[in-house]
Amino acid sequence: MDHMIDAEVLDLAHDPASEFRAAVLNGLAQLQKTIPSKFFYDAEGSRLFDHICALPEYYPTRTETGILRASVGAIAAALPPQVVLVEYGSGASVKIRLLLDALDRPAAYIPIDISGGHLRASASVLAFDYPKVAVIPVCADFTRPTALPPALPEGPRVGFFPGSTIGNFHPPDAKRLLRSFHRQLGPQGRLLIGIDLKKDPAVLHAAYNDAAGVTAAFNRNLLVRANRELAASFDLDAFEHLAFWNPAAGRVEMHLRSRIRQTVFVGGRPFRFAAGETIHTENSYKYSVDEFTALGRAAGFATVAAWTDARQLFSVLMLADEG
Ligand code: AVJ
Repeated sequence: MDHMIDAEVLDLAHDPASEFRAAVLNGLAQLQKTIPSKFFYDAEGSRLFDHICALPEYYPTRTETGILRASVGAIAAALPPQVVLVEYGSGASVKIRLLLDALDRPAAYIPIDISGGHLRASASVLAFDYPKVAVIPVCADFTRPTALPPALPEGPRVGFFPGSTIGNFHPPDAKRLLRSFHRQLGPQGRLLIGIDLKKDPAVLHAAYNDAAGVTAAFNRNLLVRANRELAASFDLDAFEHLAFWNPAAGRVEMHLRSRIRQTVFVGGRPFRFAAGETIHTENSYKYSVDEFTALGRAAGFATVAAWTDARQLFSVLMLADEG
């Protein structure tokens, strides 16, 4: 398709291969073995995650989309014209369309994502569908301090951080991340953020243990990735998916549990597993609106609005400089 604009991607990801290697070697050397959840999102992991979002048990995506649909008029009314939208971890860039359709002449859209191929494809389609919006994709890890591209339109900045991605961070790291968004968005900036609310553990359990086994495949894909990229020797059948609500910590945890006593080699180094020992692969913190408001306040933000669904499963908050 000749008329398809292949959006120019500003690539700031610095050597992702060696970063994954260092994280795995370091993580498997810990007493509680761990691999950080941000490494889920290679091409296959991103595809599996999109699949998770459509599962009947995985309520966050469809609930958040429902909240955005119902409140997008109020969101638009609370924002000035010609904003510069910055999305942290843009994935397939689906939800942003609701905002782009409702806001008053948005000037620019800057999707930031670690998965370059995914980003390039989504940005091209978006640039084609919204010819009046300057679409400027940035391939980067948004958890690292990243400058926005130079020569952006002047408009006030609105950060968009949907999907409860903030839940992947330990609260002190979440606070640091919010503070870096606050700095990047400026004193006139706003942040629209999706948070997953505390709820019946049975609902949480089902969402992370779907019947079709897609979440299990998503979790195990970390080992597939390690085998491919790091020449690791993980036997996929020797690890099982484990996901549970940890009430004391206020989070869902995902692990990969070794079914047997075994030794796995990564980059020539041996890592021993006892039977039942786990690799901790993800935390997904759940908040109340009040708890999250307190976290935002510690990062210089005030909650100016909070929208939720009828079942109180999920909430979209608008944060602004606490002034
Ligand atoms: C994208 C981090 C919000 O924690 O629910 C989905 C990722 N993990 N199923 C989440 C995920 C397992 C998801 N976040």
